[in-house]
Amino acid sequence: MEYSRSIIDIIKERTSRRSYTPRAVEAEKREALERMFAQVQGPFGGRARFAILDTSGWGEGRINSLGTYGTIQGATLFIVGMIARGGHDMEDFGCQFEKIILRATDLGLGTCWIGGIFNRSRFALKAGVRENEVLPAISPLGYPTERRSVADSVIRWSAGSRNRRPWADLFFDRDFERGLAPDRAGRYAEPLEVLRLGPSASNRQPWRVVKEQGRDVFHLFLCRSRGYDKLIKAVDLQRLDMGIAMSHFEVAASELGLEGRWRTSPPRLDFVPERTEYVQSWVGG
Ligand SMILES: Cc1cc2nc3c(=O)[nH]c(=O)nc-3n(C[C@H](O)[C@H](O)[C@H](O)COP(=O)(O)O)c2cc1C
Repeated sequence: MEYSRSIIDIIKERTSRRSYTPRAVEAEKREALERMFAQVQGPFGGRARFAILDTSGWGEGRINSLGTYGTIQGATLFIVGMIARGGHDMEDFGCQFEKIILRATDLGLGTCWIGGIFNRSRFALKAGVRENEVLPAISPLGYPTERRSVADSVIRWSAGSRNRRPWADLFFDRDFERGLAPDRAGRYAEPLEVLRLGPSASNRQPWRVVKEQGRDVFHLFLCRSRGYDKLIKAVDLQRLDMGIAMSHFEVAASELGLEGRWRTSPPRLDFVPERTEYVQSWVGG
């Protein structure tokens, strides 16, 4: 993959940015991102399509032309993505879009996953979404203002964006009864740590991971937040979060030289917490 420096450092640096300066994004940076569009892959083999849209002609000054209710300010360029509907379309999309977001971070550009409220039909029309496709998310792309806007700060505060759940809430040893401490994760402590740092819709962090005993096998589960699935009907935001988690885990493992791959191999567990569903397993070695 085309990153210019440590992907683990890039992941640690990324944060959602919602207000932008008028400074234009250089053609070379756009091209670098566009090259990435064709390269990125997801764990289930579904290929998403991406484009950069310039919204500057969409009705200047009209705060709502993007449909984000003024939460995104000053941005004219947006990365948009679409994928054919299918079994694991959202995980595949989440994984691929996040790899692009990380490349934008690498290039010194600001981004913000927007999967909730925006003018989805307008972006879909402009992006040329096909009948069997869905447009799960977009992201502004540009140079962020030095200081966050009030709107950005309010959203971050209400989502608790600066914080992440502790390891004990997310990672488990053998089964869901025992938490996994970093020193029990071996060489995978860092890939798990960067999974934990990932962005998620409303910062809900629905990822859960169960490590097998004595093997580098990690089973990923989605623990759905109560009532959240009904919020946005068009897309399953928490499955996008799972794809993001998979991208972080996978790129960090690859940087550390840890070989492995995604496989469907659900573990036999006596107890699985409520609203928790199996997604996929990483099989190392
Ligand atoms: C799938 C997804 C959808 C999101 N949708 C929105 C959105 O519609 N509006 C918004 O302001 N932020 C959105 N976010 C950004 C999250 O609020 C943010 O990632 C989270 O609070 C953590 O903050 P950080 O990205 O700065 O680490 C979304 C994030 C993800 C992963």
